[in-house]
Amino acid sequence: MGNGVSVSSPILPVVVLDEPGQAVPLSEALLAGGIDRIEITLRTAAGLEGIRRARAVAGMRVGAGSVLTPAHVDQVVEAGAEFIVCPGFSAAVIERAREHGVDILPGVATASEVMAAVALGLDEVKLFPAGLLGGPAYIEALSAPFPGVRFVPSGGVGPKNLRDYLAVPAVPTVSGSWMVARGLLAAGDWNQVTALSTEAVAAAAE
Ligand code: 3PG
Repeated sequence: MGNGVSVSSPILPVVVLDEPGQAVPLSEALLAGGIDRIEITLRTAAGLEGIRRARAVAGMRVGAGSVLTPAHVDQVVEAGAEFIVCPGFSAAVIERAREHGVDILPGVATASEVMAAVALGLDEVKLFPAGLLGGPAYIEALSAPFPGVRFVPSGGVGPKNLRDYLAVPAVPTVSGSWMVARGLLAAGDWNQVTALSTEAVAAAAE
């Protein structure tokens, strides 16, 4: 069984919203730059309402990030999240997401966690924090015993190294916050969000 999270765009932005009102212009700016998915985290109080509002933007696939508990799963599904991303591995969170019929991308950092994901029938995981774990070389080594598993690296991914990650066959998508940095959102610099997104999509396609 696949998780279905990384199917289209090679870039998954990880967003920390300070104001729910940022969700719609941000989603529009990402779409203008060719990015059609967004992971809005629960790290701030604005996250849940941001998910709700982003769902109103046609063409944007909206996910929830930093989902830590089954109760979070219930909340983000109620807000309209179409997929769920976790920083780590929790069978209880995966189970709840499945009860709701929502795609889930659990976080892993070790082979044991990949084995746990595979045991639950998953074939796609988030590798976090990718840079500190060892970057593309780490994924190359970690993926060897798991030929069917895809890894979405996050944490320390950026314009300088995204192609190195995507060059690893097991990596269909990279994830990160550089094109949606909090300062850009606070300044309402949507043009810069679009410019950085356009650059990222172009780099990923090279
Ligand atoms: C995540 O939750 O995946 C990371 O916080 C994103 O990491 P970055 O800010 O280094 O891109």
